[in-house]
Amino acid sequence: MKPLFLHRLAVCILVASSAALAADKKPAAIDVSKIPLPVPRKVDFEKEVYPMLKESCFSCHGAEKQKGKYRCDTKAGAFKDTDYGPTIVPGKSEQSSLIHMVCGLVDEMLMPPPSDKPGKSEKLTPEQIGILRAWIDQGAVWPDGAIADYVKPVTFDTDIKPLFATACGSCHSGAEARGGFQSDSLAAVLKGGKSYGASVNAATPAKSPLLTIVSGLDEDLPLPEKHKLPPKSVELVRKWIQQGAK
Ligand code: HEC
Ligand code: HEC
Repeated sequence: MKPLFLHRLAVCILVASSAALAADKKPAAIDVSKIPLPVPRKVDFEKEVYPMLKESCFSCHGAEKQKGKYRCDTKAGAFKDTDYGPTIVPGKSEQSSLIHMVCGLVDEMLMPPPSDKPGKSEKLTPEQIGILRAWIDQGAVWPDGAIADYVKPVTFDTDIKPLFATACGSCHSGAEARGGFQSDSLAAVLKGGKSYGASVNAATPAKSPLLTIVSGLDEDLPLPEKHKLPPKSVELVRKWIQQGAK
């Protein structure tokens, strides 16, 4: 009699406590099928995850501001229990409220919050969410101590070429390129066009005519609107030149 009774009691307590848990932590009605899949590879926290949080979250959740009393620039702050459930559940990205928020699955809590300023507070891409998920699923390992400031290499072929193909290619490719400036190869971009000549100054990036042009600040050039890139892309061009325009 006794063991059976105890067993039943244990089951009761278990059921009651898990029900209480479910009621009080409410990743209620989160449709996990809407979350982009984790990337199918090992992710690197210092190179991929931390820089992403830095770019998209630290302006509101870093050393200076802690909106919603949350900061994710430190290990101690990042793993927080919120009204929407714990932000990061190691091994279980689909139960992590941070993932629900970046996917816009928690009412009024899309992170980063939508902004009407272009280039500010942009939604994470499915690829970025996949990286965050994979990191959490792989144990959400956050090394103790300071995180090295990782600078992602920016190269012509991987970053600038696709950007220029979309934004400049219609006028600046082939023999008919406007102003003799071809935007489709590294050599041609470094060579420059008829009147500006070499428009990249790797030694003093700020003095590169190309940077002035894509910032929309060159008043002598025709079609300024066609030459102005969004702030994030200008930043990419700046980094590319700063790193030696390779
Ligand atoms: C422009 C500012 C801004 C940015 C950028 C931003 N957030 Fe937030 N975040 C907020 C505000 C404001 C709140 C509080 C919202 C509320 O409680 O209604 C919040 C709340 C949160 C919370 C809930 C904290 C709690 O305890 O309730 C989490 C988690 C969070 N943000 C994660 C992120 C992550 C991850 C990123 C980057 C991917 C991010 N946020 C980017 C403004 C921002
Ligand atoms: C809609 C067409 C158009 C687009 C798109 C365009 N440009 Fe131009 N670009 C021009 C014209 C027209 C000129 C002036 C050519 C001339 O002086 O004859 C010019 C001139 C230039 C020059 C100066 C060339 C010289 O004479 O030395 C550079 C550099 C340049 N563009 C870069 C870009 C870059 C980078 C982009 C993409 C971000 C871009 N342009 C997008 C039409 C365009």
